[in-house]
Amino acid sequence: MANVTFSSPRMKKDVTVYATAGDTHTLLAVAKNHRIPVDFECQNGECGSCAVQVSVLSGKRPLGVMLTEKEKTVLTLAGRITKEQIADAEVNDIPPPWRLACQFIVRHEDILVKF
Ligand code: FES
Repeated sequence: MANVTFSSPRMKKDVTVYATAGDTHTLLAVAKNHRIPVDFECQNGECGSCAVQVSVLSGKRPLGVMLTEKEKTVLTLAGRITKEQIADAEVNDIPPPWRLACQFIVRHEDILVKF
């Protein structure tokens, strides 16, 4: 379905995993399934500890996003998303760079996840 590449100074090298249909819960679920050390606490979009930077690798236009209300609130409070980026996501389908791994649903596009 999609290749998800995780990159972090906390890992010796980048790791690319193939997210199958059965993985399509959240990006955090994919990370946990593959023992990628993405931070998390609440797993419910409330603490912000799972914030990651996501970019699309395919060279295509990123798929549109539905930011959850929790993502908007938590990422705004953390200073990782602006009102303009929220508007871009909602009006122009342009995803913001920072997402909450516990809220982000992996879809049919190859992505790079930095944390
Ligand atoms: S784990 Fe708390 S917001 Fe994702």
